[in-house]
Amino acid sequence: MRLPLPQVEPDPTLPASVEIYEVGPRDGLQNESAVVPADVKSEFVSRLAVAGLATIETTSFVDPRWVPQLADAEELLALLGDEGLGARRPVLVPNERGLDRALAAGVGAVAVFGSATETFARKNLNRSVDESLAMFRPVVERARAEGLWVRGYVSMCFGDPWEGPVPVVQVVDVCRRLMDLGCDQLSLGDTIGVGTTGHVHTLLEALATAGIGPDRVGVHFHDTYGQALSNTMAALRDGVTVVDASTGGLGGCPYAKSATGNLATEDLVWALEGAGVRTGVDLDALVSTSLWMAGHLGRPSPSSVVRALGGG
Ligand code: HMG
Ligand code: MG
Repeated sequence: MRLPLPQVEPDPTLPASVEIYEVGPRDGLQNESAVVPADVKSEFVSRLAVAGLATIETTSFVDPRWVPQLADAEELLALLGDEGLGARRPVLVPNERGLDRALAAGVGAVAVFGSATETFARKNLNRSVDESLAMFRPVVERARAEGLWVRGYVSMCFGDPWEGPVPVVQVVDVCRRLMDLGCDQLSLGDTIGVGTTGHVHTLLEALATAGIGPDRVGVHFHDTYGQALSNTMAALRDGVTVVDASTGGLGGCPYAKSATGNLATEDLVWALEGAGVRTGVDLDALVSTSLWMAGHLGRPSPSSVVRALGGG
C-alpha cells in the first residue's frame, strides 16, 4: 500500500523543527545545460514557497559566462517581484560586481562562496583561497552595511576530487576566516558527496572548539555516494538545525568534477516528518512541483520519495 505520508514516531535525538534552506532554483538548475526559461524558474520559486519552503536561494549574480543558466538573474527577480526579496531569498554573489547587481535588484540576503581547497578555489573563482577571501571582504562589509543577511559557503569540506582528503583544520581555518569577515551563517559543503557520519561529527566538534557553534552552521550535502541523508541526520544530532536541500534532488557544480545532485528536499521532509520534526513543508505539493520540473527538464527525478509518491 502506498503511504502519502510517513507514520510519525518521534525521535527524541532530533531537534523539534528544522529550517530547510532550499537550493533547487540555484544549485539545482545551475548545472543544467539546456537553459530553463525565466518564467519557468519564477513559477518554480512560487510553487516552492506555496509548498511551505520559507527559505529559497533563487539564483546567482556571477559572471554569466561562467554559469550561463543563471544569466537571467535580473529577469527572474523582476518576474518574482516581492516574492523574490527579503532575508529569506538569498542569492549567490562572488564579488562587488555581483553585489552591485544584487543590490540594484533589491535583494535582502546574499551568499559568498569560498573553498576549503586551493584547487577548487581556482577552478570555481579563478582565485586562490586568500585571494577569494580578499574578494569577499568588501562584499560582506557592504552587504552588512546595507542591512543584508549574509551566508558564507565553504565547498570541499569533506574531500576534493583533485586534492583528495581535506584536513579538518584546513576547513576550520576557512570557516573561521569567513565568520571573521562578518557572515551570519556558514554552510558546510560536501560538494562531491564523499563525507560520512563520523567526519561530520569531527568537523562540527572542531568548529565548536573554534567558537563556531552548530547554531551558526547549515549543512549542504550532495548525494553522489548516497550519504546525504545519513550525514544530515548526524549533523542534526550534533545540534545543527539548518539543512540545505534541493527539490527533486537536482544539483551539482559545473566546476566540480563528480558533483551530482543535492540531498532531495522530499527525502529530507519524509525522514524529518516521520521522526516528528516540523519542517512546515507540504510533501504532496512538493512532489507535484518536482514532477512538474522533471517534465520541463525531460527526465525523472532521482529522489526516492518523488519516485515512490509520484510514480515519476
Ligand atoms: P574572473 O574571470 O576572474 O573575473 O572570474 P574578473 O573579476 O577578472 O572579471 C572578468 C569579467 O567578468 C569582467 O568583464 C567583469 O565585469 C565580469 P569584462 O571587463 O571582461 O567585460 N564579471 C561579472 N559580470 C557579471 N557579474 C559578476 C561578474 N564578475 C565579474 N558577478 C568570477 C571571477 C568570480 C567572476 C568567476 O569565477 C565566477 O563568476 N565564478 C562563479 C562560479 C559559480 O557560480 N560556481 C557555482 C556556484 S558555487 C557551488 O555551486 C558550490 C555550492 O553549492 C556549495 C557546495 O556544493 O560545495 C555553493
Ligand atoms: Mg552545492
